[in-house]
Amino acid sequence: MPEKDETDRDARVFALYEQLLEIEQRLIPTGLHVFGRASSAGEQIDLFKMIASFDRPEHGVRALPAEFVDDAVRRFAGQGLDEAVRLLESRGLKAELTRPVFALLESVSAKLQTNTEIESLVRALRGEFIEPGPGADIIQNPDVLPTGRNTHAINPYSVPSAAAFARSELVATSLLERYRSEHGRFPEAMALVLWGLDNIKTQGEGVAQALWLLGVRPVRDGLNRTTSVEPISLGELARPRIDVVMTVSGIFRDLFSPTVQLLDKAVRLVAQLDEPPEQNYVRKHVLEQIEQEVCTPDEAAVRVFSNAPGNYGTNVNFMVMDSQWEREETLGDLFVTRKCFAYGRDSRGRAIEGREARVAMDRALSRVEATYQNIDTFEIGLTDVDHYFEYLGGVSKAVEKRARSRPAIYLSDTLSREVKIRSLEETVRLETRSKTLNPKWYEGMLKHGFRGVAEIENHVSNTFGWSATADAVDDWIYAEVANTFLFDESMLERLRDLNPHSAHALVQRLLEANGRGYWDADAATLEKLREISRSLEDQLEGVA
Ligand code: BEZ
Ligand code: MG
Repeated sequence: MPEKDETDRDARVFALYEQLLEIEQRLIPTGLHVFGRASSAGEQIDLFKMIASFDRPEHGVRALPAEFVDDAVRRFAGQGLDEAVRLLESRGLKAELTRPVFALLESVSAKLQTNTEIESLVRALRGEFIEPGPGADIIQNPDVLPTGRNTHAINPYSVPSAAAFARSELVATSLLERYRSEHGRFPEAMALVLWGLDNIKTQGEGVAQALWLLGVRPVRDGLNRTTSVEPISLGELARPRIDVVMTVSGIFRDLFSPTVQLLDKAVRLVAQLDEPPEQNYVRKHVLEQIEQEVCTPDEAAVRVFSNAPGNYGTNVNFMVMDSQWEREETLGDLFVTRKCFAYGRDSRGRAIEGREARVAMDRALSRVEATYQNIDTFEIGLTDVDHYFEYLGGVSKAVEKRARSRPAIYLSDTLSREVKIRSLEETVRLETRSKTLNPKWYEGMLKHGFRGVAEIENHVSNTFGWSATADAVDDWIYAEVANTFLFDESMLERLRDLNPHSAHALVQRLLEANGRGYWDADAATLEKLREISRSLEDQLEGVA
């Protein structure tokens, strides 16, 4: 039927158009920060556009309408505040609404032009006082400027803030809807990764998302501290309460001790609610476990896990980077070995502070159907650092063995105007297209010479980490990395001049991807890679 074909074709073209827009609009770092150096005017325009795109009730500032942001910010950068206000007035926007936005941009601009990082470092080394400043993402909170101050965190009792809790409802709903659209029902249990720095930056959005999934809201005590939770009724929630396994970083455990208690309290409260098990998966699982095993209700409700006291990290990243593993399941097992320490309080109020609870963790992970982490910064994404795959990849691999099924893996992007939930595979593709394979990104890196090549290699190795832990990397990604950086002769020349060590590591990583079955490359491609590898080895031996 030609009519159906046409609708189909139009829908595909539209979907493609949306994907292109998504890649084009993605904000990426186009270079590394050089300590002590202020950013240039060109770099500032993109930043201003993002800052002007968010409502900021704390500054009395409303976001500029999306269709005017580009013109208005360029006018502001070129001709100043008054001209930008006038431009928008000519398009029907009242000056009293737009002036505060540009006033904010003006103050950001002034702070970006001063840079006292080196001076502050020297003063700190002399033991002098350094003015404190908040730690956050520059777009979410421009008050982080100027840099070169003594970054402070937040009061853990203020987490989650009212704003973070309000914003997180839509994230939790979208996450569950995404799962339901793909699986026809809600997940009974999910595993969440919570990091300390992220929850500082967002005043606890990750924490708030966990509370929403459980279906509870934070309650403040007489001193305005968040020390308790209360259930949101099933009627209001209009969906089941999800069982949530939380793996928190060592930094989170140290910085957010009251919040660790709050999360544990939330799970125990939900487990005790007199509700039908099919509407309360925490209760369902706790009851099942007590019935099947000789196990106390306390043991059956352990859901907050971290490292042993004084320990940090999963080591999954080191194992992958050093190629020191044979079977993928080792990576998930290592994650559990490092993270199987329970935190919270038992029903008699006794503190559990890092008690080894491997069986409880295995059990909790065996029910997990989806894993998730919140991404909340423009500066660091899935392939920029090895920490995302060590945590989200690590826990997903651990679930795969214990649940005998690979979980659905999701990330949120709460940094765009609208909340967006993406699968891991979609996020890896987007990161690859907007960073690793994007000339704007890699040329920005190559300006930094030796370090820039190391960054490119890092991105490829971090991408490889997503193959190892979650099989989430398409073959074309490795093929295009080879085409872009190694099979283009002039590019290869540049890489080997700037940093032959990283160039060699990059070739080795691609060969490893093929060797481990993540990249189905043809014999001629592999031979070319081996040849490049040999010639880099010769060069390195010559250097040595
Ligand atoms: C954290 O903020 O908790 C964190 C930072 C880097 C790596 C892992 C965790
Ligand atoms: Mg594959």
